Amino acid sequence: MRSLLFVPGDSPRKLEKGLGSGADALLVDLEDSVALQAKAEARKATAEFLATARKETHRPRLYVRVNGLTTGLTDADLDAVMASGPDGIMLPKTVGGIDVSHLGAKLAVREAEYGIEDGGTAIIAIATENARGVFALGTLARASHRLAGVAWGGEDLAADIGAETNRGPDGLYTDPYRIARSLTLFAAAAAEVDPIDSVYTNFRDLEGLAAECREARRDGFTAKMAIHPAQVPVINEAFTPSGEALAHAREIVAAFAQNPGAGVVGIGGQMIDRPHLRQAERLIARAEALAAPL
Ligand code: COA
Ligand code: MG
Repeated sequence: MRSLLFVPGDSPRKLEKGLGSGADALLVDLEDSVALQAKAEARKATAEFLATARKETHRPRLYVRVNGLTTGLTDADLDAVMASGPDGIMLPKTVGGIDVSHLGAKLAVREAEYGIEDGGTAIIAIATENARGVFALGTLARASHRLAGVAWGGEDLAADIGAETNRGPDGLYTDPYRIARSLTLFAAAAAEVDPIDSVYTNFRDLEGLAAECREARRDGFTAKMAIHPAQVPVINEAFTPSGEALAHAREIVAAFAQNPGAGVVGIGGQMIDRPHLRQAERLIARAEALAAPL
């Protein structure tokens, strides 16, 4: 997955648009983009949408962002949508592995009730939305076999720590958010799941988005969340391994295959050793996963 597009769950029009957006996943939102009085209607619209959308042959993965575990709304969200068999659930305001296991238990019960394969519903955690979540990032590893990705968010975190802003005058994230971002990379790598970059809220500034995507890819993120369909092609392009990068990766794999005893080889005047091989194999695996059907 490269692009994950948020779509407010109470907007059938946007849900329909999302389906044709080219996003690798839709994050149908029941949380912050839906007002409290609209939650019930959003659950209903979301369930109807999922039931139809999942039948399409070429479709994005369908995730639902439920309300966080402390809101008292999570169970009603799951009761409304699980019968429609979403591919996964996104958990906001996650505080470490305990929250992921807790959600996993709730999903297991619904899977049994609705005849869905045990463990068939994935979880993506947004895990830096408050200070406690940031400190608990290290506990996400091995929390649940359902965990498929760790995302970070800077908007709620700013509210939690009482910051005036999360970006400096240069438009770049300030230190507290860069720490949360970096720790998310480590947490995802430790859990062996996808690291997912936060949203770029200025949805008219596609240049700025492209620059942020390049930085994210450079640092190891493999995906980014979007809030507007126009962001999807920019994100997809940035996170699709380029032909050049793939060719280089294949060259590295071939060089080690031809020299099975070698710990290090030289390619194009560069020293290439085992960590490079691992990187090359990961890139090839990611390109193959992107090419594979759902
Ligand atoms: N998913 C699907 N379709 C979307 C969309 C989204 N996230 N955002 C916009 N669109 C659609 C609009 O409905 C519009 O289509 P239409 O003219 O056929 O109705 C088209 O794309 C262009 O939209 P535009 O006018 O540029 O934006 P807007 O002012 O209508 O909407 C937002 C701006 C921010 C309200 C909207 O992008 C949005 O709802 N984003 C998601 C917010 C969200 O889920 N946040 C939670 C996570 S942080
Ligand atoms: Mg939020």
